[in-house]
Amino acid sequence: MKAPILYGTAMAALAILATSCGRAGQATDFVSENAVYAAEQYRGHLQIIDSVGHFINPRTVNPDGSTWYVPVDDWCSGFFPGCLWYIGELNNDESWKERAASYTETLDTAQYLTWHHDVGFIIGSSYLNGYRLGGHDEYASAVVNAARSLSTRFRPGAGVIQSWNVDSGWQSERGWACPVIIDNMMNLEVMFEASRLTNDSTYYNIAVAHANTTKDNHFRSNNSCYHVVDYDPQTGEVRKRQTAQGYADESSWARGQAWALYGYTMCYRYTGDKAYLDHAVKVCDMIFSDPSMPEDLVPYWDYNAPNIPSEPRDASAAACTASALYEMSTYLPEGGYKEKADKILESLASPAYRAEIGTNGHFLLMHSVGSIPHGHEIDVPINYADYYFLEALLRKRKLDEGAVKLF
Ligand code: GLY
Repeated sequence: MKAPILYGTAMAALAILATSCGRAGQATDFVSENAVYAAEQYRGHLQIIDSVGHFINPRTVNPDGSTWYVPVDDWCSGFFPGCLWYIGELNNDESWKERAASYTETLDTAQYLTWHHDVGFIIGSSYLNGYRLGGHDEYASAVVNAARSLSTRFRPGAGVIQSWNVDSGWQSERGWACPVIIDNMMNLEVMFEASRLTNDSTYYNIAVAHANTTKDNHFRSNNSCYHVVDYDPQTGEVRKRQTAQGYADESSWARGQAWALYGYTMCYRYTGDKAYLDHAVKVCDMIFSDPSMPEDLVPYWDYNAPNIPSEPRDASAAACTASALYEMSTYLPEGGYKEKADKILESLASPAYRAEIGTNGHFLLMHSVGSIPHGHEIDVPINYADYYFLEALLRKRKLDEGAVKLF
């Protein structure tokens, strides 16, 4: 890890403040108003980080009101830099992108991370965004290295990338041999990108194998998905279908359904394989036909949670779903997917979910859930909810401006 550096000077903070205030007066449309709001709210994070004098990486708010700052190898470490990239892009403001680049580069060791599968989340939200939005061509190597790291977890006998190790931590108590969680679909983006960048199909082939095996084994007949499927890594036999973060093995954990929807939509982007798009549509239909789905389209943390409607919502699942639906709407413009995404964003941007400036630990959205079975991050802000909210806003703006493609 790089030595801590003092990021952001008083001048940079003032420049960001001035830009944010200047734009506030001009904000006339929904996306712009949210973009200005996000800059103003996240400036609170930057001021705290600047006062500490070295990079600290905010993930959520602890029960005592303090902020939980995470290390480089935490699965959420890429989302804060990712939010800075998106705020810069939404406000067309280079000063935010400079901050984003500084923070992205504090994660440089993460590209070599092989002890869990989340290297895709970490490098995808930080370096890949810097490559796409910041003109940092040199970040391509981090994306390729991340794919190489993730490839070390591929188990050819089972045709999957193993999500978690099973020799330590709480995972060691579950009797798993090769657990794969639905979240892993999100990590495939760096695999596809790495093949595109290098012309080496190895990463692409692993991603396709993983997506196909997951499609075969993770889904129920109603197209909802399990959280965890455990495989025999040699034979590929399914050993168990369970949950870790959902209410029950047979329940539908809300964020898991969102990861599935986003993951298969993204797989279609890179492969053009209609089977993936068809699958994403089935997942989407399942999500929106579930009787527990509230009017505002922000789901409860698990579709089968026992005390609905007195259960926490999960804004992160809604934000991820909205972002995925904008992409889906470019492949299937007549499906009403954009309208659904618009409705989700309207809900999330309302006072019911969007925090007042200076509150909520300087995060944007309230009311997300990390893991109720583990007793942590219950009805709190979480950085990935903000990240997918901002990503969805960017996608909405492009589509509202007449784009027919996002990628
Ligand atoms: N990838 C972990 C989670 O969604 O909570």
